[in-house]
Amino acid sequence: MLNRRGLIGASMAGSALLGAGAASADETGTRLSKPCVISTWDFGVPANQAAWAVLSKGGRALDAVEAGARIPEQDLKNHSVGRAGYPDRDGHVSLDASIMDERGNCGAVAALEHIAHPISVARAVMEKTPHVLLVGAGALQFAQEQGFPREELLTPESRAAWEAWRKDAKYQPKANSEVGDYGKTSGQLGAPGGKGNHDTIGMLALDAQGDLAGACTTSGMAWKLRGRVGDSPIIGAGLYVDNEVGAATSTGVGEEVIRNVGSFLVVELMRQGRSPQEACKEAVARILKKKPAAKDIQVGFLAINKQGEVGAWAIQKGFTYALCDAASQDRLLPGPSFY
Ligand code: GLY
Repeated sequence: MLNRRGLIGASMAGSALLGAGAASADETGTRLSKPCVISTWDFGVPANQAAWAVLSKGGRALDAVEAGARIPEQDLKNHSVGRAGYPDRDGHVSLDASIMDERGNCGAVAALEHIAHPISVARAVMEKTPHVLLVGAGALQFAQEQGFPREELLTPESRAAWEAWRKDAKYQPKANSEVGDYGKTSGQLGAPGGKGNHDTIGMLALDAQGDLAGACTTSGMAWKLRGRVGDSPIIGAGLYVDNEVGAATSTGVGEEVIRNVGSFLVVELMRQGRSPQEACKEAVARILKKKPAAKDIQVGFLAINKQGEVGAWAIQKGFTYALCDAASQDRLLPGPSFY
């Protein structure tokens, strides 16, 4: 079951995705030149370009990933990250984010409401507190103390989608809605209960100095239980950076990533000699081995090592990732998958 069939299928399906400047994927992944930045999903392309504005001037990977992650956080067409994210089942937009630098410093926020840029609050947690993770009301209090404005993040469009969902209030995770729901209005979202449910931008950068950093930010699973937190703010699950080895991030149903400490696993597999793509593939295989029913949901991993080699793997077709270096700032590749 877990053989090259999925890779070949993904590569063929992905050829339609490749625009000008696109690279091709193979079992060993893709190599970028330093500095470079990669991120999850189609909306990673403009995020990478914002990060590139930092990296191309010799800037630090940490500054690049924060700048990049703020792009989908402020994109009103993106219903899976930041402002305009789909709310929980009670109508609250609650955001999760984490950030990690080349020294192993990290910060995160979870179930943060009313703050449009959780990635910047996560960075403030990292730099201005002795802690790693702040949640809920405490995270909001901290953000306001740091000068972040308190705002309403539920847009009329997201409210309309939530109200449509509430008509029959099913709770069914749906794979790949990052692409399927991007830019759609509530009238285009399909049957109540069947519309978008996820997800996340995970972003990894390697700067001109050879240092790595990563960021991960999401509004989490649409219509989630109030208080639900996914993998994105959990260091080692949604994001991990080890400046000796590489960095990894994840997208998809965070519960499965947390159970397998996914991003830490990918980095440790790279430490043992696997390529980024082999490491991502093994991490997805672990999820499926422990829980075969996970074939019906989506999880994708994205990784980079110190040499600029990039890889990805997902459970299902449909995962995409964006690459950016001096050669091209608009590459988008299909994530190879088992199904
Ligand atoms: N991967 C994002 C989440 O599960 O919330």
